[in-house]
Amino acid sequence: MQKDREELYKLVDKAEVLDECLPYLRKFRGKTIVIKYGGSAMVKKELKIGFARDVTLLKHIGINPIVIHGGGPQISTLLKKMKIESKFIEGMRITDHETLNIVQMVLVGQVNQEIVSMINTHGGNAVGLSGKDGKLILAKKFYVEKPGPATDRPEIIDIGMVGQVTSVNIAILELLLRGEFIPVIAPVGHNKNGETFNINADFVAAAVAGAMAAEKIVLLTDEVGVLDAKGALISTLKKSETKKMIKSKVIASGMLPKVSACFSALDAGVPKAHIIDGRMPHSALLEIFTNRGIGTEILQG
Ligand SMILES: Nc1ncnc2c1ncn2[C@@H]1O[C@H](COP(=O)(O)OP(=O)(O)OP(=O)(O)O)[C@@H](O)[C@H]1O
Ligand SMILES: [Mg+2]
Repeated sequence: MQKDREELYKLVDKAEVLDECLPYLRKFRGKTIVIKYGGSAMVKKELKIGFARDVTLLKHIGINPIVIHGGGPQISTLLKKMKIESKFIEGMRITDHETLNIVQMVLVGQVNQEIVSMINTHGGNAVGLSGKDGKLILAKKFYVEKPGPATDRPEIIDIGMVGQVTSVNIAILELLLRGEFIPVIAPVGHNKNGETFNINADFVAAAVAGAMAAEKIVLLTDEVGVLDAKGALISTLKKSETKKMIKSKVIASGMLPKVSACFSALDAGVPKAHIIDGRMPHSALLEIFTNRGIGTEILQG
C-alpha cells in the first residue's frame, strides 16, 4: 500500500514538471528556435540519441526547431587518416581545395545524414540540407582580421575557401516548416559562380536565426559555456566584457566565432542567445523549458 502511494507521488512529481513547462510552451508554440549542434559535443552515441529525441519532442509540442551542425572533430579525424594536417586561425579552419572536398564529404555526406537518420528513427521527420540546396546559403570569401602589431590597422589573413554568409533563402526553410519537417543544415555555402565555401556553423546558425526571426539561438558545445580566466562559468556576458576577454585571449579558438555569432543574431533581432553544454543530457530542453539559466547567456550592451 505504502509502495503504491510512493509510486503515485513519483507520478505527481512528473506532472509538476510538465506543469512547470506550461508558460514556456505557451511562449514558444509556433515559434522557431535555431539550435547549433557542435561537432565536439556530438561524439558520443548516447548524446546524439538524446539530442535527436529532444529536437523531436520540441517539434511534437509545436515548436519549430532548425538544426545547424558542425563537425570539427569528425573532419579532423578524416584529415588525419589522409595524413593532412588540420590548421586553425582564430577558431576557423584553414581550408585549401583538398581540405574543402573532405569538409564537404564529412559534413554533408556523413554528419548531416547521421543526424537526419537519428531524428527520423526517434519519431521526427528531418530533412538534411547543405547550404547549397535551394540556394539556402549564399556566401562570399571570409578573411580573418587580427589586430595588427602596434598599429590600429588589422592584419588581414587569407584562410582559403572559408566563407561568410551573405544571404539566406528562407523560402526553402519555410516550405519545410509548413510541411512539419525538421531542417538539418550542413554549414557549406556557395557564391553565384558556384564556388563552394566552408562556413563556421556558428555563423550559419546566426544568419539562419536572424533571417527566420527565431525566438532563440542555442549553441551546444563541449564546454559548460563561456569560461573566465580561472575556468569558471560566466552566466551572462555583454559585448563590452566579451571584447576585453578576446583581447586578453581568455576567449579564443572555437569560442571566438560562437560569441561573435551570438552578437550578430542579437543584432539581427533574435531576442535570446545562449551557449550551453551539449554534453549534458537534455541541455537544450533545460534551457528552453526552465528558468534555471544553464550555460552562458549573451546580452547586448
Ligand atoms: N573562454 C572560453 N570558454 C570556453 N571555451 C573556450 C574558451 N576559449 C576557447 N574555448 C574553446 O572553444 C571550444 C569550443 O569550440 P569548438 O569549435 O571546438 O567546438 P564546437 O563549435 O562546439 O564544434 P564544431 O566546431 O565542430 O561545430 C572549447 O572546446 C574550448 O576549447
Ligand atoms: Mg566550432
